[in-house]
Amino acid sequence: MRLENRVAVVTGAGSGIGRATAVRLAQAGARVAVVDIHAENARDTTEMIEQAGGTARTIQADLAQVSETERAIAEVVRRWGQLDILVNNAAVMIEKGIVDTTEADWDRIVSVNLKGTFFCAKYAIQQFRQQGTGGNILNMASVNSFYAEGGIAAYAMTKGGIAQLTRALAIDHSAEGIRVNAICPGWIETPLNANFFAQGPHVREQAGRLHAIGRIGQPEEVADAVAYLVSDEASFITGALLTVDGGFSAGLAPALGVVL
Ligand SMILES: NC(=O)c1ccc[n+]([C@@H]2O[C@H](COP(=O)([O-])OP(=O)(O)OC[C@H]3O[C@@H](n4cnc5c(N)ncnc54)[C@H](O)[C@@H]3O)[C@@H](O)[C@H]2O)c1
Repeated sequence: MRLENRVAVVTGAGSGIGRATAVRLAQAGARVAVVDIHAENARDTTEMIEQAGGTARTIQADLAQVSETERAIAEVVRRWGQLDILVNNAAVMIEKGIVDTTEADWDRIVSVNLKGTFFCAKYAIQQFRQQGTGGNILNMASVNSFYAEGGIAAYAMTKGGIAQLTRALAIDHSAEGIRVNAICPGWIETPLNANFFAQGPHVREQAGRLHAIGRIGQPEEVADAVAYLVSDEASFITGALLTVDGGFSAGLAPALGVVL
């Protein structure tokens, strides 16, 4: 995968899958804007990229606010004069069923996961249009876009929305040379799942058994798939939802393994 002369924005790049993706895209030659609400973490990612000889820039932004989203994209264009790739990855998890979910919980998760994703795409598409170059958007969905797991109703709802946004944008913008795809990861070893894993080693093992491969995934395994989908090697792929889930969604067997 070659991404020389491309400028990429990776949201939520201060941690987990976003960090691994930012590093991977920079390895492929892209200049990468490392966007995150947590400036320190974003700076660490930028340093990792620069130490490996890549080009990166930290942008602190709370993508729950549309004005911040617009500013973040504008800052990238001001700095590098173009935008070619948006990896819409930032999200929060709320480990609650509907009865325990407050209005504040709902507003937060919808603002970050849906509003943030939607408006990042809006400002990226505006820029792609202005450049006349086409562009690439990769949305981070989830196996929870299609399959329900217990106790995360609002999160699952937002991930279902991201899957459908991916298809809608692909339909609306393919004629302009803009490809829009999503990746649906299974359980990945990141801070997002820290509360689950803190319950003990049995949780990690049980989560592993949800996947046909028998283990949870690593952020780099998702990042490799992102690098492919945003590269020219995926030139005929748009509106696709690619599972990167170790077989989680392949059938019922992995899930049955948990209760047998
Ligand atoms: N880890 C998994 O098992 C898993 C599975 C399926 C999908 N995903 C998806 O992958 C993506 C990355 O998740 P992760 O596991 O790396 O999580 P993570 O918690 O490690 O990283 C998420 C990043 O998003 C940032 N962020 C949160 N709110 C933000 C905001 N308002 N503005 C800007 N940045 C913000 C956080 O600071 C953090 O750096 C998410 O979309 C998540 O839903 C993760």
